[in-house]
Amino acid sequence: MTETVAAHGSTWSHRVAADGFWQVHREAPALLVGAVLDALAGRSLDGATVLDLYAGAGLFTLPLADATGPTGRVVSVEGSPRAVKDARRSLHDRPHVELHAGPVDHVLAALRAAAGSSGGLTHADAVVLDPPRVGAGRVVVEQVAHLAPQAVVYVACDPAALARDVALFAAQGYDLTALRAFDLFPMTHHLEAVATLTRRG
Ligand SMILES: C[S@@+](CC[C@H](N)C(=O)[O-])C[C@H]1O[C@@H](n2cnc3c(N)ncnc32)[C@H](O)[C@@H]1O
Repeated sequence: MTETVAAHGSTWSHRVAADGFWQVHREAPALLVGAVLDALAGRSLDGATVLDLYAGAGLFTLPLADATGPTGRVVSVEGSPRAVKDARRSLHDRPHVELHAGPVDHVLAALRAAAGSSGGLTHADAVVLDPPRVGAGRVVVEQVAHLAPQAVVYVACDPAALARDVALFAAQGYDLTALRAFDLFPMTHHLEAVATLTRRG
């Protein structure tokens, strides 16, 4: 099936398998894409290197790819091969996007180990991450900080995990500079948050 997402004056089409991952609330995709782009507004992403971690079917990867343009580099990492297959169908015409299937910590370690070759990764201008309820954790936070992005946009479905990871980012030199919360799971205690972390100095 095709899912259409409109935000910031643009519209993106995503191919998603019927049993593949997609945000549950029907307004969530556009709202979250808008919030992520808002968080990065004011930063020139044209030609930038941007990471989309825990990328699912590429909800954020596609708009980030258009934000960086063809001279940029978008590194998208997702653990589910099915979701990566969906992302590939939506992003095949954007050669500046790399889709990596595997655990985020393994993929980032491999990209770091390949530093010095064209496929390696030593720096990112911005990182978007949208981990599952358990959060990203110390290893991934340190791997992200090692790339020294100016901005990290953290999409969180669990406030406790977000708080733990914000503390880990603070220890790595990142301040929480903006936080928005959305009631995407009405009549439950769950909420979705979009946090912006900015590199000190
Ligand atoms: C909350 S979803 C976000 C997906 C996407 N950003 C979206 O909004 O549609 C989290 C995603 O992380 C993936 N995931 C969970 N643990 C992972 C890991 N250790 N490494 C890579 N991906 C993982 C899941 O398969 C899922 O697609």
